[in-house]
Order: sequence, then C-alpha cells, then structure tokens
Amino acid sequence: MSDALRRIQDLRSLIDHHNKLYHGLDSPEITDAQYDELFRELILLEEAHPEISRANSPTQRVGQTPQGRFASLAHPSPMFSLANAFSDAEVSAFAEKCKKNSDSDEDVPFVIEPKIDGVAVNLTYRNGVLEKGATRGDGVVGEDVTANIKTITSIPQSIIPQIGTPPDFCEIRGEVYLDKNAFVELNNTREENGEAPFANPRNAAAGSLRQLDPDITASRTLKAFFYAIGKVENTDKPKTQMEVLQRLHNWGFPVNERFALANSVDECLQHYYQLLRERDGLPFEIDGMVIKVNDIALQLELGEVSRSPRWAIAYKFPAEQKQTTLQNIIVQVGRTGVLTPVALLSPVEIGGVVVSRATLHNFDEIEKKDIRLGDCVIIQRAGDVIPAVVEVVLASRSGNAEKIPLPTHCPVCGTEVLKLAQEVAYRCPNERCPARIKERILHFVSRKGMDIDGVGEEVVEKLISRGLLTDVADLFALRVDDLAPLERIAQKSAGNIVAATAAAKNPPLEKFIFALGIRHIGEYTARLLTHTFNSMPKLMAAEKEELEAIHGIGKEMAQSLYDFLRSDDNKLLVAKLLAQGVNPLAPAKDVRKKPLQGMLFVFTGKLAKMEREEAKRLVTELGARTSESISAKTTYLVTGSNSGSKLDKARLLNIKVISEDDFLNMIAEHEQ
Ligand code: IVH
Repeated sequence: MSDALRRIQDLRSLIDHHNKLYHGLDSPEITDAQYDELFRELILLEEAHPEISRANSPTQRVGQTPQGRFASLAHPSPMFSLANAFSDAEVSAFAEKCKKNSDSDEDVPFVIEPKIDGVAVNLTYRNGVLEKGATRGDGVVGEDVTANIKTITSIPQSIIPQIGTPPDFCEIRGEVYLDKNAFVELNNTREENGEAPFANPRNAAAGSLRQLDPDITASRTLKAFFYAIGKVENTDKPKTQMEVLQRLHNWGFPVNERFALANSVDECLQHYYQLLRERDGLPFEIDGMVIKVNDIALQLELGEVSRSPRWAIAYKFPAEQKQTTLQNIIVQVGRTGVLTPVALLSPVEIGGVVVSRATLHNFDEIEKKDIRLGDCVIIQRAGDVIPAVVEVVLASRSGNAEKIPLPTHCPVCGTEVLKLAQEVAYRCPNERCPARIKERILHFVSRKGMDIDGVGEEVVEKLISRGLLTDVADLFALRVDDLAPLERIAQKSAGNIVAATAAAKNPPLEKFIFALGIRHIGEYTARLLTHTFNSMPKLMAAEKEELEAIHGIGKEMAQSLYDFLRSDDNKLLVAKLLAQGVNPLAPAKDVRKKPLQGMLFVFTGKLAKMEREEAKRLVTELGARTSESISAKTTYLVTGSNSGSKLDKARLLNIKVISEDDFLNMIAEHEQ
C-alpha cells in the first residue's frame, strides 16, 4: 500500500471518529483548529491522488448521520456545509473562481455575515406555522428536535410578515447558539453538580438542543440567528442573499445585524479584520466570517461540490490569544502517572471565558519556550477547555523571573519520578499513588466510561484518604454508612451514590473497556475491541498478534493493551469487579456487520431521489464497494434516468440491473 493511501485511510478514520464525537456526542477530543488541519491535509492528499476513490471519504459529506436518540427527519432540500479559508490568498482565489464563472469581468458582489458558532438547524413552516425543526445531521437527514426548537423564544412559532402573506411552505435555516454569559453560567452549574463542563458555547448549544427532555432545553436560554431560506413554495423567490436576509427579517426571524454587501475581495477582507476586532466584544461566539455570492442566479450556476457550495466560503478566525502573567506552576499527576505542569495565571478573559489556568503540556515544552515564573505569557484558547501557553513575551521579562525546576519526585506521593528515554513525560511509577488512583476512579465513573453520577473529585479524595477506595472495584462495595459520615455529604446524596453504582453494574462492554483507563485505549478503540472480542474473558485471553491484527490498532496500542491484560494486578482488578457483580454487556447483535460486504455497485444515469455521491455513501456504509465502470465483478447496476452505455454492457455481462426504487428498498431493509 502506498504511503499516501495509508495516510488517507488513517485520516478518514480519524476524521470519522472526531465527527462522531463532535456531531453525535457534542464532546470533541480535539480543537476545531486541529480538526480543520486534519481535514485540510485529507483534502490536499485527495486532490494530489485523484486515483484514490473518495466515495467513502468524510470530505464528501456533511457532518454525521444521526445516531438514533431522536427520530430522523429528512430535509426537504439538502443542507450544505462550507469550505474553509485560512488566509487572504485563499479568499482571493475563491473570489477569482466566482468571477471566472460569472460571464462578466466585473467584480462579483458578495454578502458577508459573521459565522455564528452554534448548531445549524432547519425549520419548516406550513401555511406560516412552525411545523418541524431538525438538526443538520448529515445534510440529507437530521434529527427531529421539534419539541426543543419550540422552547426557544426567539424562534417564531408562526410567520407573520410585516408585508404580504407567508408562503404555503418554506424551510428556514440558521444557527441556534448560546450567549457567552449563558455558557459560563451553564458550565458553573454543571461543575457544581459534578458534571463535565462543555468545551465551548457551540457544544453547549448542541448538547442543550439535543436533550430528550424539552424542559431542559427550555432552561438553557438558547437563541438563534437565521441566514438562509431552503425550499419555498408559492411565493416569489428572493434574487439576492441581501433579499433573503431582508425577507427573513420581515418574516420575524432574528437576523444578525452585522451583515454587509461587499463589492470586492478587498472590501470582504476589510470586513474580516474589522469583525476580528469586534469579536471579543460580541455577546456570542463567532469563529469566522462567511462570504456568499449575493446574486442567487450566479449561486445556482456555480452549484456545489459534494459537501459545500462553490458560491460561499467561511474565512475562519485564528485561535484567540491574550497576554497575562504566569504566577505559579502546579504539577498534576494523571491516571497513567504522567506529570503535567499547569500554569496558574492572573485571570484573563478570552472569548467570553475567564481563564486562570493553562496547560504547559510537559517540561520539555517549558524548556523549549523558556517559560519562567513571573513571565508575561501569551495564552491561546481554540475551542478547548484547557487553554495553552503559546509563548513568552520576552520584552516584558523582569530581572527576577525564576526558572522552573524539573521534577525529581511525585508531588503527591513523593516517589522518585522516571523519565523514559523515548518519552518527553516524567512519570510517577507508583501504581498506588493516591493521585493516580483518584484519576483512575474519576475516569472510570466519567460520562464516557461507566457514567456514574455524583462521584466527584472531592468525594473520591475523601474516600481515598479514609482508605475506603483503593481501586475502582471498591466503588461497588461502598455503603451509605461509609459515605454519610463524610463532611458535606448528606444522607440523601450518600444514598444516591450507592444507588448510582448499583445501577451501573451492567455497562455496555465498550464503555467498560474504556473506563478501565488503559493507556492509549480511547472510546474508539474500546469499540473496536468490543466488536472483535465481544466479551471480557475473550479480550483478557487475546494474544498480542490478535490485537495487532485489528485494523485501526497500532503496535504501540496493542503492546499497551497486552501489558495491561497480562498484568497480575489488572487480572485481579477485573476479577474483583466481576465478583462485585459488575457484568459488562456485549452488543446484542453485531451492529457493525456489513450486510452488503463483498458486493460491488455501479450507478448510471441521473438518480431522482438523491445525488449519486449520497447513494455511493449509503452502500459503502453497508460494506459494499462502488465503481465507475461495469466489469464481471459488478453485483448490481443501479439505473437512474438517461442510462447510457453502462446498461448495455451490464446486459452483455449478465449483471443484475435494478431501478433506483429497488435500490432504495434494498438499502432501507438493511438500514433498519
Ligand atoms: S451558510 C450553503 N451562514 O457554519 C450555506 N452558515 O461550516 C451553508 N454558520 O453549517 C451555511 N453562521 O452551521 C452560513 N452566516 C452563516 C453562518 C453559517 C454559521 C454555520 C452553519 C454551517 C456551518 C458551515
């Protein structure tokens, strides 16, 4: 396999993984900037290697197919995503392409709008009355969040135009978001309740909109801005994006007032830098500026490339940075013993969030960046919970800035630290270090793990110091009498904790594996392992070669997993968990099974109900491959209208020919 193909495959599965976390679970593991970087690398590699099929690539689709918590709702017309630009030059190139296609030498007029960092929604109105509200999903099918949408007070329940009558039917598109203030408040409450804070206002908005209980959504003070009209019936269609915004406003929808007509690229760029300056002062988060061709006839002419229109682009903002003073350094000890230096800062507001801590990643980094106590440092927040120190402002360094010493002993248990030659990290090697036990337990009970509520940091610390918790299995032996005497734990919460641990005894196997906190084994790998081994005893008995053979598990992961599974301590721990009645459940049936595995589909002609790319994606998700040409290996030829020579060839080779409807029935059967 070529290096490029391997990297493309890796990038695709990585991006799919992060898409799931971001769109499906509102809980990203990487920053938007890091995601954009991966995505960009994939786009460039795919462009450089057109011979590699893109049919199943995340570059060809919008977001993530809904995962089943909500009913699915097909959008009457598809919702697109936006291509990103990160430099003035990329914006100029975009404008140049629009101009080339415009049959005119004049500059193309654009409309600029702030890019609101929220969740895209599609609302349908029938006879002027709000009928349905859906998330974007994969652009074709979203999640039905109507009940939740109806709780958002700034969204009109009915269209009452200032002039004229509402259309018989229309789709209205925009962004549901949470103010910076509401975001901070929500996170404070979550932390008080021992829940994990949301990474940024967008995740908080998505999490709030995707609540099964609309009362929770209602309590979150969501707001919305609207910027597009999708399908519309029985009314004259707007001719420009300016008219779209005007009409939305006239119909009673909140439109962000910071839009403008820009007659050239230069004007677009002026707006961009102006908006960048205004960004901090805005009460809501924006992550860039959207540039759209104003003339809708030209938009239609330019069309779309798979996931995004050629007539619009998002010029993203760089990550936010601020200067502040490094007051002190504390050293945190993680689950696997890694010592992480954390900067304590003079509090500074970045993008609506007050930051007083920032990660320094590791001691190498401190040395490389020559960071000293008392330094003036630049802090960056890029959609992350934990902001990072970017660099020192050397010009502001005072004479008594102190060097930061390298650690020699664990700050918690005092054990001498280790530094392996091939690693940057210093580690506390003591498996029984109270900090490590605490982190292991917090990881075990976390939402992505065993999902046990009420077991916060404070409780765990107290239980460890009283000798009541030495490992995760002890959680299941806790009694109300153990907990109730602890300071600040009432009888009722003690009861709740015991009930929560009892209720968590049958976790899905993948969550159980993740919860064990094995080095390098994240949610995604835990799922892979579940689908390969299907039970804890089988996983415990796995040979190293079997682990290495799993697609998606590298050598290092396999080694770490093997070491974990073969260690006597861990064997005892798993046995102790099982003895406490913990019984992880394997998935009822292999949901990842690919019912169309081994089949090869070819499409010909124009499909009436979906784009060809979408059809290809559907079959590849079910395990089949697709090809552009008929061969003896073809299983099915799917015919749309105006089928050409492929049909003749298929008949010649005796290949099964099916209609689009047959095809859709086949897919529907397997998707259930
Ligand atoms: S236009 C085909 N306008 O950004 C046009 N999108 O990265 C698609 N967004 O899915 C959308 N503010 O969720 C548009 N003023 C704006 C926007 C905006 C935020 C979001 C939207 C979209 C995403 C694309």
